[in-house]
Amino acid sequence: MFPVAGLGSRFLPATKSIPKEMLVVVDKPLIQYAVEEAKAAGIERFIFVTSQGKSAIEDHFDRLPLLEQTLEKRKKINLLSKIIETALPPSQAIYVRQPFPLGLGHAILCAQHLIQEEAFAVILADDIILSQKSCMKQMIESYRPGDGNMVATMMVEPEHVSRYGILTVESEEDKKVRASAVVEKPTLEDAPSRFAVIGRYILKKSIFGFLDRQNPGAGSEIQLTDSIQKMIPETALTGFSFDGERYDCGTKEGWLEANIAFACQDENMLSYLGPMLRRYALAHDF
Ligand code: G1P
Repeated sequence: MFPVAGLGSRFLPATKSIPKEMLVVVDKPLIQYAVEEAKAAGIERFIFVTSQGKSAIEDHFDRLPLLEQTLEKRKKINLLSKIIETALPPSQAIYVRQPFPLGLGHAILCAQHLIQEEAFAVILADDIILSQKSCMKQMIESYRPGDGNMVATMMVEPEHVSRYGILTVESEEDKKVRASAVVEKPTLEDAPSRFAVIGRYILKKSIFGFLDRQNPGAGSEIQLTDSIQKMIPETALTGFSFDGERYDCGTKEGWLEANIAFACQDENMLSYLGPMLRRYALAHDF
């Protein structure tokens, strides 16, 4: 499930008429990285929780006959196969609307009727993760029945804890952290640790019963973490420390760094990126 109904106000005016999930990192929109990560994890059904003004996301994952014909005529076969690969077959893509911006927990609740499985995965597209193995694949492979709800986690700088859900750590073993609590966007003084929830979740279906009764929390929004917290007495909460670099593309710094990091993955771009960055570093003395 991809909650993509958020406003993207940090990127205005860029996001006035395009969804923030369509912001590009190098040559692909954020939402495409998220879908590719899910596909690499073996996921075959993709639910997008959208809102008004998000139709570009549906278009992006659709077939575009006119463009395909033109590329074919011009013998641009590489580009043609790239855009065909991007499309999701109708049986795999489901779009559902969140009618009011009531928070992440509420967005997930809007897709309740589409989940039959015992557990489902959630990916927040503005957290982009560069890794050898898809982060969601890592989580699914390491998931054991006793893990309950699983969230990706990483240590964040103290000055950033108030941006995240933060775990109270009970025990730590290898890549897994058993959490006894989670709190949404605490102040630095109140933060129980520096283990932040990153936008990757494996959630038990029973979360819906809690989300349905969830009162608004931080920012007056219905918070997913508040329901995960309520479930802890009966459903464990496990943090998973993934292998990979995560970039917060909900901020300009994170988005800019993601562009540089992903460009560095491409040998061709790397050949001009180095001299380019050196030129700017010299000119601006950084
Ligand atoms: C959301 C979640 C938060 C999590 C974060 C990760 O916050 O509510 O628990 O730590 O994503 O990016 P948001 O970034 O939507 O404010």
